[in-house]
Amino acid sequence: MKKVLIIEASPRQGFSRKTAEMIRQRMTHFAEVELVHLYEEEIGMCKGCCACLIAGSAGCPSHEDAAGRILNKMLEADGVIYVTPNYALQIPAGLKNLLDRLSFVFHRPRLFGKRSMTIVVEGVYGGRSILKYMDQVMEFWGMKAVKGTSVTGGVYPGCETDLRTSEKNNKKIDQAIQRFLNDLHGEKLPDPSLMRVVMFRAARASMRSSPDALPADKAYFEEKGWFDSPYYYEARLNPIQLAAGAIVDGLIGRKSQ
Ligand SMILES: Cc1cc2nc3c(=O)[nH]c(=O)nc-3n(C[C@H](O)[C@H](O)[C@H](O)COP(=O)(O)O)c2cc1C
Repeated sequence: MKKVLIIEASPRQGFSRKTAEMIRQRMTHFAEVELVHLYEEEIGMCKGCCACLIAGSAGCPSHEDAAGRILNKMLEADGVIYVTPNYALQIPAGLKNLLDRLSFVFHRPRLFGKRSMTIVVEGVYGGRSILKYMDQVMEFWGMKAVKGTSVTGGVYPGCETDLRTSEKNNKKIDQAIQRFLNDLHGEKLPDPSLMRVVMFRAARASMRSSPDALPADKAYFEEKGWFDSPYYYEARLNPIQLAAGAIVDGLIGRKSQ
């Protein structure tokens, strides 16, 4: 059975929590599901010291708290579903802090072959840009983002959703779960887009040639063999992707000489 981690990100026991619990219930026959309520975890604020980038994640002054354990749970899972409220047109501070704390994964991606999906719980407006943001972050970290959805939890804290809204929410969630499960059983390592290939080549070319490149990143790329591979993992790259990759390698290499 595939393993799914649900990360629920509301600071209160509100509509996101109910939604996450409903998703867990509906998925249990199809996957092994673990649900983490982010605000029940002790996660220190990112201080912006960049120690995780420069020295490695063990250099973070808070490296023994739950952020690392949550990343390990992501590594053990086949897929991760975020259930997050929309606060001021964005994810709430606790979830943003988790992303900040794990920002070294942008530099040293490691979640390849996994799927992510985000469900936004909101009052009226803004979910679409949150979905886009979360998909983008998870794709930088290596996952393939499956199209999520926004549901309406109500504008006011205590309000109950009416029957029609509940039915609409349930339908959207069922469709999202179905998309996620289908993709979870699809091709493990999807072929990358042209942009992903170009970004990989740009990252490693500048790392190879810049005296300011971060030692932890360099060591990680070396350990993975990424300085010599066409992409992070074995994938079918078409001639345009290969040519674009070679151009990026050449251009960034030459600029730094
Ligand atoms: C601080 C705060 C900011 C919010 N900002 C937005 C917003 O920008 N757009 C929106 O549609 N709803 C907004 N809402 C409404 C919540 O997204 C909505 O009530 C949601 O159901 C809350 O989820 P929760 O009960 O899990 O916390 C906001 C609520 C709070 C508390």
